[in-house]
Parts: sequence; structure tokens; C-alpha cells
Amino acid sequence: MTTNINFFKKELKKWYKKNQRSFEWRNSNNPWKILLIETLSQQTQIDRADEFYKKFIHKYPTPQHMARANKKEVLKLWSGLGYNNRAIRLHASSKVLAKYNFDEIYPDFTILPGVGPYTNSALLSFAYEKKVIAVDTNIKRIIKRFFKIDDLDTFLSKNTDMLLKNFKSRDFNQALMDLGATVCTSSNPKCKICPLELLCNKFIVKENKKSKRFEGSMRQKRGHVLKMLLTGKNVTKQSINKELEVTNKITDQILDSLMRDDLITISKNKVIVISDN
Ligand code: ADE
Repeated sequence: MTTNINFFKKELKKWYKKNQRSFEWRNSNNPWKILLIETLSQQTQIDRADEFYKKFIHKYPTPQHMARANKKEVLKLWSGLGYNNRAIRLHASSKVLAKYNFDEIYPDFTILPGVGPYTNSALLSFAYEKKVIAVDTNIKRIIKRFFKIDDLDTFLSKNTDMLLKNFKSRDFNQALMDLGATVCTSSNPKCKICPLELLCNKFIVKENKKSKRFEGSMRQKRGHVLKMLLTGKNVTKQSINKELEVTNKITDQILDSLMRDDLITISKNKVIVISDN
């Protein structure tokens, strides 16, 4: 196992030196920048997330800047990315961070809305240089394939120290993320050009990637209603029925779902607005 781990690290390091993708946030220790890019890149390709990152960091260079904005403003800037709950949670996190800065919350950022174990590890690795692996889908896939691992948690609890010895965790994590995005891809991995090919177990299991249909989904309908709300025109149940060509029942379901997430409020005169907090 030691031979394999040493080979894995050596080849990965060499490959990353030549092939790393360059992004402004890559060399930053600023936890706000890391939180921004990690939130934007969930369910989104990194190049697209980076385009939005530039807009966000320009408008909201600190959590305080975002905390002063209202939900509608943040959602407007988010427009086009989808999964709007991410924007709402980021906004809520900015409000916490305007009061307590990252260093006061360190090392458990999972108290921030929307921050789970992955983002917490990314913050610890990229902003605080801690020796942790930020286990995203790419990293999971590569380690399982190379070492022929079923139970990743057990493997990592035994081997993380060795994997990260003399390897900066930010480089280790980002090298694997880049390799997973460009070479050791989920389908049709390019083993011929992979730096790890020689000792790889090629334990390739079909990933259960049920791509959910967007067209006609509740997610699409919610996005459509939010778009209507961002135009500034009066929005009512009737106008939603008409615009989305749906029944009252479906409109109620959409509105219930948006209200549960505290995205909208229905005022007394039945006009629907984006919640103002
Ligand atoms: N996806 C999420 N975070 C990333 C990072 N830091 N580098 C590359 N891809 C990523």
C-alpha cells in the first residue's frame, strides 16, 4: 500500500504542476472567497462558477457587503445559476459572518447555513492550510478507482496522514479535482493520458447518475416564478397560472415550496413578493 500511495502522490504532484487550472481564488487564503466559490460551484461547472464568482466578489467583497444587501439583490445576481436555495443560504451565512468573523467560528463552519462537511473541509484546507481532504465527488471517484476501495471512509481514516505527508492539502485537493474534471472523468475516463494509470486498479463502477429532468420539474417552476418576481411587476396567483400555464393547485404547490424556504411572502392584498430579510 505504501508503494502505491507514494506513486500516487508523486505522479499527482508532477501532473498538477504542469496541468493546474488557474483561478483567482486558487491562491487565496480568504475564507469568504473560498465560501463563495465553493457555494457557487455546487452542481455547477467550475468555469461557469468562476464567471459568477467574479461578479459576486466585485459586488460583495466581504460578508458585511452581502449582509447589507437584501435577498432580492442577491437573487438577481445569482440569476441564471439555478438552485436558488444556495443563494439564500449564502446570504444567511453572510449575516452570521457580519457579526462573528470566520476566525471566531473556526474550526466548525457547519453552523453556517448551507455549509456541510465538504465545504467545511474546503474552508479548513484552502483558507486555513489544515491537513484535511475535501472529499468531493471527483476525489471520491479517483481514490476508489485507483486503490480499489469500497469503503472510502475507513480507507481515509487509515491513510489520510500518509496521503498528505509532504503534500499541501490545498494542492492535493485541487490536483484531484482537476484530474477528476479533465482525465478521470465519471464516464469515459481518459486512462491513456492519466498520470496514475500504471498502478491504477481501474475499479470503475457505474456511477448512479440519475440526471433529473429539469424541463417541467418543480425546480424549473420555482425558478420561473422567482424570475417573475425579480422583474418588479406585480405577481399574483392568477398571473402565475397564466404565465406558467398551470392550474391553481400546481401554483399553490410552487408557492408553498417557496414559502417553506422563506423565499417569498404573500401580502394581504394577495401580491407575492420576495421575502425582505
Ligand atoms: N470544485 C470545487 N472546488 C474546487 C476547487 N477548489 N478547484 C477545482 N474545482 C473545484
